[in-house]
Amino acid sequence: MPDHIAVLDFGSQYTQVIARRIREANVLSRIYPYNTAADQLKQAGARGIILSGGPSSVLIEGSPRPDAAVFDLGLPVLGICYGEQLMAHMLGGRVANSTEREFGHGTLSIVKKGRLFEGLPDTLRVWNSHGDRIEALPPGFEAIASTENSPYATIEHAERHFYGLQFHPEVAHSEMGTEVIANFLFKICACPADWSMANYIEQTVQTIRETVGDAHVILGLSGGVDSSVAAALIHKAIGRQLTCVFVDNGLLRLHEREQVEKLYGDHFDLDLRVADKRRCFLDRLEGISDPEQKRKIIGNTFVEVFEETVAELKQHGNYTFLAQGTLYPDVIESVAIDGNPAALIKSHHNVGGLPETMNLQLLEPLRALFKDEVRELGTQLGLPKEVVWRQPFPGPGLGVRVMGPVREADLTVLRKADAILHEEMMAADLYYKVWQSFCVFLPVKTVGVMGDERTYENVVALRIVESVDAMTADWARVPYDILRSISSRIINEVAGCNRVVLDISSKPPSTIEWE
Ligand code: XMP
Repeated sequence: MPDHIAVLDFGSQYTQVIARRIREANVLSRIYPYNTAADQLKQAGARGIILSGGPSSVLIEGSPRPDAAVFDLGLPVLGICYGEQLMAHMLGGRVANSTEREFGHGTLSIVKKGRLFEGLPDTLRVWNSHGDRIEALPPGFEAIASTENSPYATIEHAERHFYGLQFHPEVAHSEMGTEVIANFLFKICACPADWSMANYIEQTVQTIRETVGDAHVILGLSGGVDSSVAAALIHKAIGRQLTCVFVDNGLLRLHEREQVEKLYGDHFDLDLRVADKRRCFLDRLEGISDPEQKRKIIGNTFVEVFEETVAELKQHGNYTFLAQGTLYPDVIESVAIDGNPAALIKSHHNVGGLPETMNLQLLEPLRALFKDEVRELGTQLGLPKEVVWRQPFPGPGLGVRVMGPVREADLTVLRKADAILHEEMMAADLYYKVWQSFCVFLPVKTVGVMGDERTYENVVALRIVESVDAMTADWARVPYDILRSISSRIINEVAGCNRVVLDISSKPPSTIEWE
């Protein structure tokens, strides 16, 4: 691991934000479980340590503590909120319960600029969120800034380069928080600003070449952001030593397969193999209406098909690596900390990894990156906006958007309606502004009139949501006239649908998908 800033995670909802802010300043950051051994941090190349905030209280016995030796490494340490209190508590100061919780904006009055506040004004609006407070400083520390409620809003041990902040410099509500973090990185830890996407590409391409040698690599390409960017990056490194497998499961959107073939096969000149398994998936799904059972069938069939394809490829080449578009948030080890919701929520969507029986080594070139870094990487590698900024699409595809048993005729109706919604969202400049916009096929017949004739056809629901992380979502307030064109186009142009309804449920208590 190259030089970096180690962020110890005490369970704050902002830990990943801290890591992102550091990278935005062109310094590599890495998140570690709070109890990582100090030696390990040093050996991994940490140049400075940040103790994150967290929901616990240092006054509670058994609350999370870092290895005490992190204070003896000779490295600068910045404690944020709970991290500041830990520092005060562990180094001989006194922390007490506060009667009032300080939450929200406060004014920080800086009395000594030192290196941390160099170049900043005398007062700053900052964002607080804490219960406990420091009552006595540990030896060697002094307070260099205060807020209305806290005389120790920032503490410093200048000689040892230890700093504690009661407020959160990483959140956007803290004025000049970015500058405070930059001062820690550059003035205190003396980090070079050498983390950039161009460097990352260069280094990773090199590493991929060295790792792979003259072997061959297989990648399951779904057309989604992560697998597409992984494919483009590995392809840049080893060209046609990479083979991408795209499985057509019969549950794709209109022209999706052709678009993938055109972009990767023709434009990128990638070795793309399309496994046409539409029949296989649809046969196995016949008559199945339980959503979880559908997911299982689709997931298992995918693994089976993929294994078959790999076995076949292995007969013709030295395939020893399986590439995956795993991202950093998937690999950050989460630690169970009381009161930390993030540690408790397990995603039920992560389809189990591909079986080890394939005997392939894993190649995961995006393991160090956050999602927005992956998008930037994709853009720099020449992937079009439609791929890099594509809305999420579930692995089981339209299989969970046709309610109940999946029938081919219903898929056809859904595909056409969904393509119209997509076109209209693009035309209204809304597609990239919402989190997801898609159609759901309801196997419910309702009566309509078309010309002089009575119709008796199905319903299509529009699901258009805004969200930041899919954990919560709200229905998007799409203007009525746009909804009107979507609905009238679907009803007029798609045979088999005579009614369009709009889903106005938020998540929770509803979910984004209908199944
Ligand atoms: P829900 O419906 O749980 O969806 O609110 C949250 C996000 O996850 C996507 N989703 C899935 N993705 N396999 C996936 O790869 C699945 O089985 C699956 N189910 C839901 C959904 O599209 C939304 O972005």
